[in-house]
Amino acid sequence: MQTFEQYLQDHLPQAESFHPVYEKALGEMLLAGGKRFRPMLLLRVVEAYEPLLVESALAPALALECFHTYSLIHDDLPAMDDSPLRRGNPTLHTRYDEATAILAGDALNTHAFLLLARAAFREDIRIKLVEILAYNGGTEGMVLGQAMDLYFENTPLEIAQVRQLHVRKTAMLIAASLQMGAVIVGLEKEIQQALYDFGIKLGLLFQIQDDIIDETQSSEEAGKVTGNDGDKNSFITLLGLEESMVQADALAVELEEQFHAFDVRLQGALDPLIQKYLHRHR
Ligand code: IPE
Ligand code: IPE
Ligand code: MG
Ligand code: MG
Ligand code: MG
Repeated sequence: MQTFEQYLQDHLPQAESFHPVYEKALGEMLLAGGKRFRPMLLLRVVEAYEPLLVESALAPALALECFHTYSLIHDDLPAMDDSPLRRGNPTLHTRYDEATAILAGDALNTHAFLLLARAAFREDIRIKLVEILAYNGGTEGMVLGQAMDLYFENTPLEIAQVRQLHVRKTAMLIAASLQMGAVIVGLEKEIQQALYDFGIKLGLLFQIQDDIIDETQSSEEAGKVTGNDGDKNSFITLLGLEESMVQADALAVELEEQFHAFDVRLQGALDPLIQKYLHRHR
């Protein structure tokens, strides 16, 4: 069985042309690494129920990583978070130029849907995967979350609004990753929903912990510029580090309870991936 990492290296988006850097730019941020959290969530759900389908699930897993990487490339642009470092590497707009970075993001976004449309699954499953990624990544999901994040810089929101912002910009794609795995193996609607709801909470915790990383880690440790969220509606800016950790721990307790209600196969498959996020700060 091919690992996800190998699959990614062998299936970078291809675009041969006389353009000197375009194709390289498309693959660069994918190859730079990252935790691969979203594709692994999908693959682990598939592995728990239908190990034989894991191979065909590599393409949808790569679709998630392409889509997520597009969101990072755009997130780092001067008009957004204006960041020179991502995954330990110079961002595309610093290495090349802004137009190249914008277009590489555009290409990875659409490439994700190409991968889903061409995946080796029944047509109804492929359409469902396209729908889930489009819904959670697009208009009402990640894009809206990013719009909220940037529009309200330096304008303090209510904590409930910050929660909503985090859910949209980060949690919906994480929940979608679990749900896409569930769709591939044909889990019942109620279990799909339970996994999605769990993913929303997990994603919220993931973003709070990302905000904690911004406050507590060096840029070298994080592989991206940290100490950068001062003008953001992050949990830290609103509640401070201490209270954010208290809230993260409370969420971790809730998540752990929900997690233990899952089928043991699912628990076993997801545990290595998510244990570190359920880990308490105190
Ligand atoms: C960073 O995502 C942006 C957030 C949504 C917090 P990741 O923390 O998953 O970044 P990579 O993929 O590991 O680089
Ligand atoms: C970005 O959130 C979430 C995305 C949808 C890309 P952040 O702006 O906090 O992500 P980092 O800290 O730059 O990775
Ligand atoms: Mg951002
Ligand atoms: Mg950012
Ligand atoms: Mg951040």
